[in-house]
Amino acid sequence: MRANSADGAGDRIAHLLQRPRRLRRTPALRRLVRETRLSVDQFVYPLFVVPGEGVERPIAAMPGQFHRSVDRVVAEAERVAALGISAVLLFGRPVAKDPVGSEASAATGAVQCAVRAIKAAAPDLAVMTDVCLCAYTDHGHCGLVRDGAIDNDASVARIVEVAVSHAVAGADVVAPSDMMDGRVGAIRRGLDAEGFAEVAILAYAAKYASAFYGPFREAADSAPAFGDRRTYQVDPANADEALREVALDLAEGADIVMVKPALTCLDVVARVKATYAVPTAAYFVSGEFAAIKAAAANGWLDERAAALEALTAIARAGADIIITYFAPDAASWLRDAGSA
Ligand code: PBG
Repeated sequence: MRANSADGAGDRIAHLLQRPRRLRRTPALRRLVRETRLSVDQFVYPLFVVPGEGVERPIAAMPGQFHRSVDRVVAEAERVAALGISAVLLFGRPVAKDPVGSEASAATGAVQCAVRAIKAAAPDLAVMTDVCLCAYTDHGHCGLVRDGAIDNDASVARIVEVAVSHAVAGADVVAPSDMMDGRVGAIRRGLDAEGFAEVAILAYAAKYASAFYGPFREAADSAPAFGDRRTYQVDPANADEALREVALDLAEGADIVMVKPALTCLDVVARVKATYAVPTAAYFVSGEFAAIKAAAANGWLDERAAALEALTAIARAGADIIITYFAPDAASWLRDAGSA
């Protein structure tokens, strides 16, 4: 339109210097000015390892996710490595549970066997392990129970044993998710004393007491038998406290800090990244995944668009690393995404 045309109301805005829509006009222009570039390099894929052989059992509340025995987990790890995914995060289930979660640190445990097998089959894939007791204890808490309460320091001693057993198996990164005080420092000392100075720690630093872990607890069979996790996980109403947790974990030697859940805590992700400028991970948790899956199954959401938008928002907030059950699908979507 000519700026000096005399006809009509359009003239009154013809000289706008700023028209944000100019750079939204074509896919190529939108790609050029895109601020957040989601990449498969950022993704960590969680996998659930169970005892046995030839097992691949669907997890009902997490469509597309499975309980897998070591042989099947290795096949899945090889598949996702070929998609370009950088890392897997292993969760385990035991043959039997007891009050101290004995199997969590057993050399023959499902996780330890899976670490060895994955490192042999896909040596370039980074193998991370969840370090916790909740799937292994008969009471389902992340620590040891004494007189009906969680005994912090006794729990930490057990958790160090679990972390060291994962390092012995060959884990690249151990990821304590128990939220006991002092566990990162204790794990660092324990690893160093056993000759594993090069094994990194990804601390579940700001892990909230969230309702969005519901589907995972079915997957890990780790719901607490009494009480809840509010005496060790962060109150969802707090953010300053999350920053203090991150500061403590960094001071104790955490190499990567995690905020969890992701979508309900984007403000915390942003503050952690801006405040500490360290490798920051966000866990797009089971309930967040299941909510999108369920809505999509009902035809209420476009799964691909919703998942990619959520992943982009997590990255935009400041997450360098995104732990997500969508990892393989998102890797494929990003690969065949031309423009949007
Ligand atoms: C165990 C653990 C949990 C998750 C990761 N590690 C559950 C919990 O704390 O109850 C949640 C993962 C998810 O929901 O995807 N300590």
